[in-house]
Amino acid sequence: MLIRRRRGYELPESQVTPEALVLNRRALFGAGAALLPAAASAQSAAGPVPPLPEHQRNMRFRAERDITAEREATTYNNFYEFGSSKSIARDAARMPLRPWTVKVDGMVANPREFAIDDLIRMMPIEERVLRLRCVEAWSMVVPWTGFPLAELMKAVQPQAGAKYLAFQTASIPAVMPGLRQTWYPWPHVEACTVEEANNELAFLAIGNYGKPLQGSNGAPIRVLFPWKYGFKSGKSIVRITLTDRRPNTFWGTIQPSEYGFWANVNPEVAHPRWSQASERVLGTGERVRTQLFNGYGEFVSGLYTNLQNERLWT
Ligand code: MTE
Repeated sequence: MLIRRRRGYELPESQVTPEALVLNRRALFGAGAALLPAAASAQSAAGPVPPLPEHQRNMRFRAERDITAEREATTYNNFYEFGSSKSIARDAARMPLRPWTVKVDGMVANPREFAIDDLIRMMPIEERVLRLRCVEAWSMVVPWTGFPLAELMKAVQPQAGAKYLAFQTASIPAVMPGLRQTWYPWPHVEACTVEEANNELAFLAIGNYGKPLQGSNGAPIRVLFPWKYGFKSGKSIVRITLTDRRPNTFWGTIQPSEYGFWANVNPEVAHPRWSQASERVLGTGERVRTQLFNGYGEFVSGLYTNLQNERLWT
């Protein structure tokens, strides 16, 4: 393994002062506060987002493709709460991110409502470079910061009968114009099984590109299932409910024949309206072949061996 010694002047990206703090520094000085991370964190309950904690990249997950330009990944998005265009980043930047709580309830021994910064402090934070494959046949590679969903499950202890997790996205009408499209089944809910949640690949992201998540990518916390189509990866999560019934999901309610519960990536199973054999790489426009389970079969194929009668690929 290559061990890289850091020179004195090299800072990990995670230590770089977040842009929002730099831009806010006049306001901070005006309020008589020094521009120190500790001062910024102390204010986090009221407004500013603290920097990410110190963390390392987990090299077990290799994308084997170039990382997508940050600007592409943060400005070409699907986030229907802000509308159905890809250009929602500016509106999403207006989402209030603190205070923010994530409630974990339902069939757990230890139901909790976490203040987001307490949750981040409790969890083992790491970076993973992961591929994300949208059902619309575009893809990107992003360095995400966060922690395994399984670690959150350890903290809340699912009951023996719990089978599914439902992830609910925030509904904030004052900043989310998409919520006015009342024909969509708000709030946005996506779901997985407890077994999938405990798989080491299932990840809760709080940052990308070494910085706290931007609104457009699902700040302050979103889930990632890199082996499934991207629509399963709910953004801006406020509640996770464990249940023994398969939850109704946002896209599954809108169009069940096109967007099923499992939605595992498979190049050989076409979407009813287009092929899934290849994908457009965001930023370069290059077309590459799509891989079974988005290339993560070694981690997840065992989850599906007894589910041959299920529609695993839509
Ligand atoms: N989560 C919510 N709440 N609302 C959405 O519209 N879109 C999904 C998913 N999560 C969506 C969502 C889809 S279709 C995709 S492809 C990914 O988010 C896109 O994530 P990105 O914008 O960070 O690339």
